[in-house]
Amino acid sequence: MAYAIRRPSWPSIVLGLVVLAFLVFSLPPYFIGDTRVPATFALHYPLLVGHVMFGAVAMVCAVAQIWPGLRRRRPVLHRRTGRVYVATAIPAAACAMVIGAATPFGPILAVSNVLLAALWLWFTIRGYLAGRARHFGEHRRNMVYSATLAFSIITNRLWTPVLYITLNPLQHSVFDGNEEHFLWVVAGVGAWLGWTIPLAAVHWWMRRRPAIEPSSIPRTTATEPV
Ligand code: HEM
Repeated sequence: MAYAIRRPSWPSIVLGLVVLAFLVFSLPPYFIGDTRVPATFALHYPLLVGHVMFGAVAMVCAVAQIWPGLRRRRPVLHRRTGRVYVATAIPAAACAMVIGAATPFGPILAVSNVLLAALWLWFTIRGYLAGRARHFGEHRRNMVYSATLAFSIITNRLWTPVLYITLNPLQHSVFDGNEEHFLWVVAGVGAWLGWTIPLAAVHWWMRRRPAIEPSSIPRTTATEPV
């Protein structure tokens, strides 16, 4: 079957560049045994490194999976990349749940971390199982939520400095000059906003476009498992 060559759309190019910039900024310390996150228990650092490395591979795979036309033109590559996404997102989320519960940046962030990691696991596993069962509508829905949560870690990083600057005048009046509590609130609220807003936006978008495009599942894959 011949497929028309479609140029990648602007949103996917922008997303790819944003992910690249995020990884180029975030990864280097972890290649030389360094970190920006203070350890809170003995296994914290190895789990953090595992989280960062698995998370990075999952994020790159997620960009490939939503690249327009890949699913239709290269269904085998779509399936293989999807398997690598699942195999890396699951350990990344499991590590995030453990280090997230013990974050040095306060209890509001800890609750957000654990819930976000649990949802990331939930949507990834459900999406994988739905794909295996050939329930493609459910597979697509869950995988779009899963990828949204993976990418949301980028918006998460943007909120914290914005909140730090805008809430700074309240540090003395509301927080009695306690900088640690101020930082806990800034980091915690930034994290909640970082994933709840993209998840709500994608949920709204999916409700407007609920059906899977019939042409997006190639006939040739009809007998092959995900
Ligand atoms: C979506 C679920 C995710 C959760 C719940 C999560 C949670 C966490 C937690 C708890 C930390 C340690 C900092 C802290 O204690 O708050 C962390 C650090 C980090 N995570 Fe994630 N993460 C997620 C996804 C990702 C993804 C997909 C990547 C992609 C590479 C990633 C990259 C990183 C990096 C680079 C750090 C180290 C931060 C730094 O050095 O500044 N995370 N994450």
